[in-house]
Amino acid sequence: MNLGLRGRKAIVCAASRGLGRAAAFSLAREGVDVTLVARTADTLDRAADELRRDTGVEVTTVAGDINTEAGQEAAFAACPAPDILVNNPGVRQVPGDFRTLPKQEWQHWLDVHFLSSVQLIQKVVPGMCERRFGRIVNMSVSFIKFPQVGFAHSHAARLALSGAVASMVRELIPHNVTINTVCPGLFDTDALHTNLHGHAERGNTTYEAIVENRLKTCPAGRFADASECGDLIAYLCSAQAGFMTGQNIVNDGGVYQGLF
Ligand SMILES: NC(=O)c1ccc[n+]([C@@H]2O[C@H](COP(=O)([O-])OP(=O)(O)OC[C@H]3O[C@@H](n4cnc5c(N)ncnc54)[C@H](OP(=O)(O)O)[C@@H]3O)[C@@H](O)[C@H]2O)c1
Repeated sequence: MNLGLRGRKAIVCAASRGLGRAAAFSLAREGVDVTLVARTADTLDRAADELRRDTGVEVTTVAGDINTEAGQEAAFAACPAPDILVNNPGVRQVPGDFRTLPKQEWQHWLDVHFLSSVQLIQKVVPGMCERRFGRIVNMSVSFIKFPQVGFAHSHAARLALSGAVASMVRELIPHNVTINTVCPGLFDTDALHTNLHGHAERGNTTYEAIVENRLKTCPAGRFADASECGDLIAYLCSAQAGFMTGQNIVNDGGVYQGLF
């Protein structure tokens, strides 16, 4: 399937490793010129070199924190008229006790999992509407559909984003601008393994035991490859996906058992 994206321009946030990097590859294979944002310059440059070599598209890098105004401004200076925004906060969720988590911690999670993404959306939609093409994909987590104990702060902030988006999309679709949210389950990235090590430490067990337990509860019986998220994102950015908006799409190997 040709996704009709050749020559389009994308800002891909948190894109030097993991799911952001996979999204950049999937888009680049469709001929999209990509601007990659991440904080660490050497990993970013390595990802950019691989992308150029494998796909031949134009790749620009921005070394900065996408959850700050300066990082967002730098991304827009590098790509002033994006057709696509992959709105990935990069920051992985860490557990916290809702009883004692201080207000500034709740504020931090609202900043990185909600407000930062909203600010990026505010920046891109005027130009997208004017040009009559825009695809925004937010990176969330499958657990927004079945929240986990210990993650109230992070789930709340990610759900706030999905709620805000649900209100925005009807004003945008007449201009051929869509916003969808991907909700991944367990994908084989650095963040996943760091999380699993953390679970093992907190549960006073081994990393191997945690992995075995997670795989047992996943009907697919495996962790997914990051490309399986990247390709979903590329499809949501396609010309063909212009009728689909405001959706929160779970991609978790059958873990979530709900219908909606
Ligand atoms: N992997 C999973 O199973 C899974 C499942 C559901 C949801 N998620 C969510 O998806 C997101 C990405 O996870 P991942 O697994 O791809 O993580 P990862 O493999 O650790 O990669 C994180 C990427 O984000 C960049 N990054 C982190 N903070 C950043 C910031 N403030 N500004 C710019 N770039 C930043 C990192 O580069 P630098 O460190 O150099 O900045 C790196 O490129 C997270 O929000 C995570 O919670 C992951």
